[in-house]
Amino acid sequence: MESFVIQTENLSKVYQSRKQSVCALDKLNLTVQRGEVFGYLGPNGAGKTTTIRILLDLIRPTEGRALLFGENANKSSPALRQRIGFLPGELSLWKNLTGLQVIQYAGRVRGHLDMAYVNQLSERLKFDPSKKVRDYSSGNKRKLGLVLAFMHKPELVILDEPTSGLDPLIQQTFNDFLRHYSAEGNTVFMSSHVLSEVQAVCDRVGILRDGRLKAVERVETLTHADFRWVTVRFRDAVPPELLARVPGISQVTPLEHGYRFRMVGEWQALLHAIRDCYVLDIQTEKPSLEEIFLAYYNDVGDSEMAEAAEVKEGEA
Ligand SMILES: Nc1ncnc2c1ncn2[C@@H]1O[C@H](COP(=O)(O)OP(=O)(O)OP(=O)(O)O)[C@@H](O)[C@H]1O
Ligand SMILES: [Mg+2]
Repeated sequence: MESFVIQTENLSKVYQSRKQSVCALDKLNLTVQRGEVFGYLGPNGAGKTTTIRILLDLIRPTEGRALLFGENANKSSPALRQRIGFLPGELSLWKNLTGLQVIQYAGRVRGHLDMAYVNQLSERLKFDPSKKVRDYSSGNKRKLGLVLAFMHKPELVILDEPTSGLDPLIQQTFNDFLRHYSAEGNTVFMSSHVLSEVQAVCDRVGILRDGRLKAVERVETLTHADFRWVTVRFRDAVPPELLARVPGISQVTPLEHGYRFRMVGEWQALLHAIRDCYVLDIQTEKPSLEEIFLAYYNDVGDSEMAEAAEVKEGEA
C-alpha cells in the first residue's frame, strides 16, 4: 500500500520561449494522503495549473518529479490513468457531439461505462446529456467535465477550479458530493479561488505564490488562527510606543481616542503594558478566512502568519 496518493519532490517548471523564461514552479514539495480533500490555492499565475498539468503528464517538469500512487507521473501507464479522474481548467470538446456521445466515447477509451452511475451523476448536477456540446452554456460544459472526471469512480480526482461558472445551488450540491466522495476513501486535489468552497470541503490547503509553496495548513487551523484585530479606547492620550513595544502587536493605527492593531498570542503582555492607563473600551474582531488568505497572497503578514501558526501549535 502506497503511503501518499500525490507526492512531489523539488518539482520545478521553467517555461522557455525565445523572448523570456518564466519560472512557474520552484522546488515544490507536497504530499497528499489517501482520503484527503486538498485545496490548492494561490493568486492568478501562481503555478496551480502548471502543477496539475505535470501531475497529469500533459507537460514535463524541468526538475524534480511527481509521484501518483508511488508511480512517476511521467509513466502514464493505462493502469494509473484508470485510477485518476481529471477536470481541466479549460475543457475542449468535440462541438458536434452530444454530451452523451462524449461520455460514451470516454467510456470506450477507458474500456468501461457504468451508465447507471453516469445518470446518477447527471441527475445530481442537473445536467442534461442529450444536447450538443456547442449548445451548452459554460456552466453546463463544466458539468459535463465533472461527469467525465468522476464517471469511472477514480480513487484520485484532480480538479482545476471545478466550480467556476456553476450557480450557487449546484456548487452546494457539488460540495456535498465531494465530501461524500472523499468519505469513501477517495482523494481529491483541487485548485480554487472560491474561499467559501475551500472552507466547506477541504481538509487541508496549500497556498502557492510565485511558484513557491507558502504554507500548508489544515483548514481548521487557518480559520482558528490565533490572531485578531483589537481596538482599545483610552480616556487620556497614550503614546503609540507603549503598544508598539508589546510582543505580538503590529500594524498599530491611531484612532481618535485609542488604537487599532493586530495581535497574536495571549492578552497578558498587553494588559500589563496598559495597566496604568484609563481604559474606556476594548473590542476584538477575528480575521475572516478571506483576510487570512489575502495575507498569504500578499507579502505583508507572512511573518505574522508564521507566528500565529507557531502559537497555535504551541497551544495544542
Ligand atoms: N505555456 C506556457 N508558456 C509560458 N508561460 C506559461 C505557460 N503556461 C503558464 N505560464 C506562466 O506560468 C505561470 C504560472 O501559470 P499557471 O497557469 O500555472 O497559474 P495558475 O496558478 O493556474 O493561475 P490562475 O489562477 O490564473 O489559473 C504564469 O506566470 C504563466 O504566465
Ligand atoms: Mg490556472
